[in-house]
Amino acid sequence: MTIHDICESFDIGGRYVSCTELSTGNINSTYHVKYVRDGENKDYIVQKINKNVFTNPEELMRSIVLVTDYVRQNVIKKGLSTKRFVLRAFLAKKDRKPFFIDENGDYWRVYRYIKNSITYDTVDDLTIIQRVGEAFGRFQDCLEGFDTSKLHISIPDFHNTPARYVAFEKAVKEDVCGRVKKVESQIEKLLGFKQKACLIQEYLDCGKIPMRVTHNDTKCNNVSFDMDTNQPLAVLDLDTVMPGAIAYDFGDAIRFIANTVIEDCPNLDDVGIDVDKYNAFAKGFLGQVSQNLQEFEKKTLNLGVFTMTVELAVRFLTDYINGDKYFKTRYPGHNLDRANNQIALAQDVLKKWDVLEEILQKYI
Ligand SMILES: Nc1ncnc2c1ncn2[C@@H]1O[C@H](COP(=O)(O)OP(=O)(O)O)[C@@H](O)[C@H]1O
Ligand SMILES: [Mg+2]
Repeated sequence: MTIHDICESFDIGGRYVSCTELSTGNINSTYHVKYVRDGENKDYIVQKINKNVFTNPEELMRSIVLVTDYVRQNVIKKGLSTKRFVLRAFLAKKDRKPFFIDENGDYWRVYRYIKNSITYDTVDDLTIIQRVGEAFGRFQDCLEGFDTSKLHISIPDFHNTPARYVAFEKAVKEDVCGRVKKVESQIEKLLGFKQKACLIQEYLDCGKIPMRVTHNDTKCNNVSFDMDTNQPLAVLDLDTVMPGAIAYDFGDAIRFIANTVIEDCPNLDDVGIDVDKYNAFAKGFLGQVSQNLQEFEKKTLNLGVFTMTVELAVRFLTDYINGDKYFKTRYPGHNLDRANNQIALAQDVLKKWDVLEEILQKYI
């Protein structure tokens, strides 16, 4: 089947014009499709869902529709355009389901293309960083009160830090590639972080912080921006929306956006939290959500930055020890560079803790 055939299986009117594959995402296969209806351009995003990562696409789509319907109601309440501030999944003609299964058993979906929009793979501009924070904060605010038990768990134990440590300690014990000897100091550092990094999971388990709907992939290229005004529009990429702690989203976004260097930069002296970027994201994010936060929850945001960073370091080092089976690597030792980078970042979060907490206080 061609992309044109896939499109025709969905309830979208008009005449097919063209299709371009987008290379920005790294999980699903994404196509920008152009249609014309009554002389007007109608654009769509067509995606083949990655079945290796998301093993239950039907449940996944059920969840996404629940989330987008809920967000849409709140977008209306805020007086914003539903066409621009929330994704909309189209239904298949055949069975009115929000996906279509092709002859190979692959699952496809179609979203409305957010008109006149762009995404940024990386951002350095503080104004844009603040707006990325605003978009994820607004998304979170629009999901306030959503019953998280209705959500499909697309990746079980995604941010279960203690479970990540269990896998790590198992890898160290088994040492299948004989690499443990080389990374003893890194192992020691990560074990030293363990207690602190497992606190958020403990707080969730005992109800000290609320379970919320979290996006879990708060990268800047998952926010669409208006091409002309550069204002943030819809949050994209809802495949990992699951129940979790708000500190996950805040923490992972900071980990990604406020590192002074890229995630795999091997020059560890250059790794650190850029305080201005931290400030910009916190300002945007907390401007939207601070009124919803519980007192104790507010104290876990910076802990979230530390936790997300350590958790990823644990995952990179686990994969290195296991022989680079999970993450795609470009050279031998790539996972080790990534782990070292994240360890250095976590150390810098600890070093700058008081400064970062002070920033949060300004916006809470
Ligand atoms: N509804 C949409 N409107 C405009 N662009 C979109 C839309 N959905 C996705 N995109 C573009 O496609 C890219 C990849 O889509 P995404 O859903 O993030 O896939 P992946 O899971 O592979 O990252 C996004 O970063 C964005 O540039
Ligand atoms: Mg994406």
